[in-house]
Amino acid sequence: MHVLEALDSRFSCRAFRPDPVPEETVRAILGAAARAPSGGNLQPWHVHALSGAPLARLVAAVRAKMADLPRGEPGEYAVYPPELKEPYAARRFKAGEDLYATIGVTRDDKAARGRQFRRNFELFGAPVGLFVYLDRTMGPPQWADCGMFLQSVMLAARAHGLHTCAQEAWAQWHSLVGAHLAPPAEHMLFCAIALGHMDETALINTLRTERAPVDAFTRFAGF
Ligand SMILES: Cc1cc2nc3c(=O)[nH]c(=O)nc-3n(C[C@H](O)[C@H](O)[C@H](O)COP(=O)(O)O)c2cc1C
Repeated sequence: MHVLEALDSRFSCRAFRPDPVPEETVRAILGAAARAPSGGNLQPWHVHALSGAPLARLVAAVRAKMADLPRGEPGEYAVYPPELKEPYAARRFKAGEDLYATIGVTRDDKAARGRQFRRNFELFGAPVGLFVYLDRTMGPPQWADCGMFLQSVMLAARAHGLHTCAQEAWAQWHSLVGAHLAPPAEHMLFCAIALGHMDETALINTLRTERAPVDAFTRFAGF
């Protein structure tokens, strides 16, 4: 697959078929993604790849806890700045509205929105969950490195005919996830990536989010 096709066809898939993904495919995707650059070649990412029974146990554990702690655990990092300014706040709002519109959920229907949000913790039905950690001592440059690794995983998945969804939502269950994965204490959960075969029939997968045009975020000179 051409890299431009991989870039263009990647989107956040939020409904998967249950068909399994073999370990060798996941290994191939992670191996390809590990070619991502990182400052000083630190390669600061650490991944726990889960499928089958261990993944089912984690999903069940979160489901059991959700009744007591509907908002999850206090996060270890802020997903967004406390005061999200424009144009970022409007973009976030629109992405949410457009997402819920695909499944006919209105702004006031908090229950349906909550149900859809909680699908995060079933990895939207994906048979594989990649839980991505980085060392607590790492700073913004290494978090950026991790982002390059995430995108590389998502593009490599496309080359194998698979789809993905990056999921920061899992960070709100970091200690429960940690109890299942037993990462070293110095590792911190950044996010998960749901990985699998797209459910082609799911309306939620029809969303294609907007992007600002190149001229809105680039100033050209000297061409
Ligand atoms: C690091 C990261 C974390 C994300 N976390 C979530 C999440 O927890 N749940 C979710 O449904 N989407 C999540 N997303 C998906 C974004 O909402 C999505 O990338 C954005 O709206 C653009 O849409 P697209 O990926 O379909 O192009 C995440 C994306 C990234 C890069």
